[in-house]
Amino acid sequence: MLTFLQNLYAHTFKLCLPIIYSLFEGLHDHVISIGKSVNGFALLVIEISDKPGQSESEPAFKFIGNVHGDEPVGREVLIKLANWLCDNYLKDPLATLIVENMHLHILPTMNPDGFALRRRGNANNVDLNRDFPDQFFPINDEINYRQPETRAIMNWVKQEHFTASASLHGGALVANYPWDGSRDQSKQYYGCPDDKTFRYMASVYSQSHYNMSLSKEFNGGITNGAFWYPIYGGMQDWNYIHGGCFELTLEISDVKWPKAAELPVIWEHNRMSMLNLAASLVKTGVHGRIFAADTGHPIPGSLMIKGIDSEIRASRTYGDYHRMLAPGENYEVMASMEGFKTKATRILLEEEAVSLDFILDPDGADGQMKMLRNNCGCLCDNDKLFHVQGAHLELYLFVLLVVVALYVLFKRKTSSKFTTQRHSPKRPIAV
Ligand SMILES: *[C@@H]1O[C@H](CO)[C@@H](O)[C@H](O)[C@H]1NC(C)=O
Ligand SMILES: [Zn+2]
Repeated sequence: MLTFLQNLYAHTFKLCLPIIYSLFEGLHDHVISIGKSVNGFALLVIEISDKPGQSESEPAFKFIGNVHGDEPVGREVLIKLANWLCDNYLKDPLATLIVENMHLHILPTMNPDGFALRRRGNANNVDLNRDFPDQFFPINDEINYRQPETRAIMNWVKQEHFTASASLHGGALVANYPWDGSRDQSKQYYGCPDDKTFRYMASVYSQSHYNMSLSKEFNGGITNGAFWYPIYGGMQDWNYIHGGCFELTLEISDVKWPKAAELPVIWEHNRMSMLNLAASLVKTGVHGRIFAADTGHPIPGSLMIKGIDSEIRASRTYGDYHRMLAPGENYEVMASMEGFKTKATRILLEEEAVSLDFILDPDGADGQMKMLRNNCGCLCDNDKLFHVQGAHLELYLFVLLVVVALYVLFKRKTSSKFTTQRHSPKRPIAV
């Protein structure tokens, strides 16, 4: 563990340019501990971003490795990933995109005690991927009885507002997506409301992998969790339900404990998958901010898609939301907030991300005010105008600002001219 720590810090100091930037602001900004294992080891998270530790209106992704102590491949490739991103920032377009446009949180090991013991469970021999509260069975509902590692993840997810994530496992080669369990405990395909979104995300991983998509066991190298084998108390389903965080469970190596010499190969096989999955948070989906029409302030409203029974929340600070969605479809996007009228608009999501802001009218605003608000800010109920308005709203506001500024300047100049002229003859009188 000490060597691991030393390595972690050595890498951080030596290689992480964007992170070094904030070294002067305090060590906590880039490597933080989210809690401790049963045996007291810190659960260390590396945050990769041009502004680590600061809140921005950007999506956040997390990678978690070594959930099972005897599956160490994840922790190794995650440290490789952190180094690679720091080494290639401003050299590689994907590295630059990730550093500049999102916050990537990396927890190389969730189970340092299990790793030290070379076994699946933690120091109490509890399987951490069965220790989360479960939607179908109240087996883990008593929060205080969760393992410290589980509790650390739960608090972290409540605090950080992740858009998506992945945990890394070993023993198979497949990208697994929710649900992990089925209501009647049978082995069957049990899709969650975002089944299409998850199939898309899992495919991003498997298609970018060296040979995951060629799997003979799993069609396309992806699988629904309950279809493969149902589990209860898993981390993936809990993230989606309680964190609004779209989590995959990635099995990245057939061999659980391969020879050290094979690690660079496994890293190479997974490198593009990890980068593309993280970058998909920026490159695809629907993104925007939610504002209150009366105050102009950002609000932490809910975002829903018609026909998909799940909602995500915008952030409190910036009102920004980031919604993963399968591309190539029409969606009706709705924003709502208590005390405000819900608004909806239809979009065609193609391969690229769509930017869409909402300005919500407060409940009980009178008719005239509503009209005014609709004229100045609403992006809704108007399919044809949407693309122009949605994509260029900021540009419009900017142009408007420039025009107003020019007008004010012009008025000032002319009026000062007039004042001079008018006042000149009067000056002697005034003196
Ligand atoms: C993928 O490649 C690895 C390493 O060459 C090999 O061991 C494995 O069997 C391959 N898997 C598939 C599904 O092709
Ligand atoms: Zn595992």
